[in-house]
Amino acid sequence: MKMMRLLMMSLLSAGVFASAACSSSQPTDDESVSEQPATEESAPEEGVQGGEMEHAEGDDHGAMAEEPAEDGELMEATARVINGEGEEIGQVMFKEVAGGGVQVSGMVSGLTPGLHGFHVHENTVCEAPDFTSAGGHFNPGSHEHGGPANEHTARHAGDFGNITANEEGVAEFSFVDTMISLSEGENNVAGQAMIVHEGEDDLVSQPTGAAGARAGCAVITLVE
Ligand code: CU
Ligand code: ZN
Repeated sequence: MKMMRLLMMSLLSAGVFASAACSSSQPTDDESVSEQPATEESAPEEGVQGGEMEHAEGDDHGAMAEEPAEDGELMEATARVINGEGEEIGQVMFKEVAGGGVQVSGMVSGLTPGLHGFHVHENTVCEAPDFTSAGGHFNPGSHEHGGPANEHTARHAGDFGNITANEEGVAEFSFVDTMISLSEGENNVAGQAMIVHEGEDDLVSQPTGAAGARAGCAVITLVE
């Protein structure tokens, strides 16, 4: 454990320098050209894994450098869900659990009754109407698609499975996911985009569970 922490710390400082160097030369690069790389990245889910991972790591470390989490501090985040028209249709809350893992809870409305695939995706941008800007599933460990019941080595970190909408099209949910984090490690989801799909995630089809189009999108934002 000590070694891991040391390794994380050195990775962290490397990230700090990297993002400092980046920000002097191209301060708004990430935001201004987000459309272009997002669409490129979203096309082949597996082919761009390497580059995508580096990018995500840099982003995470940049954010952590500004607001370092102290040992034992439990982080919280929220995500405002918008539909293809840009209207707010729900909210997701994230709370790190003392024993490990993150509690994910919230409500999404305006859905069709039934199951809807629910994932953290690899990019950090929600662009209506189709939200392809969010890219593929958040998958730092380069695993296959699965569901929350799978072992950590047999699912994407972003694979939350499905949420269930009632007859009114409202899904309420609360679960603890032990694979993701809000503060450390490669599975830190802070800053990532989340997607609620039109259809059901079958939890086995590769690479996305055949959950269909993207009904809603939300960016996970740390609460100060
Ligand atoms: Cu998804
Ligand atoms: Zn997946």
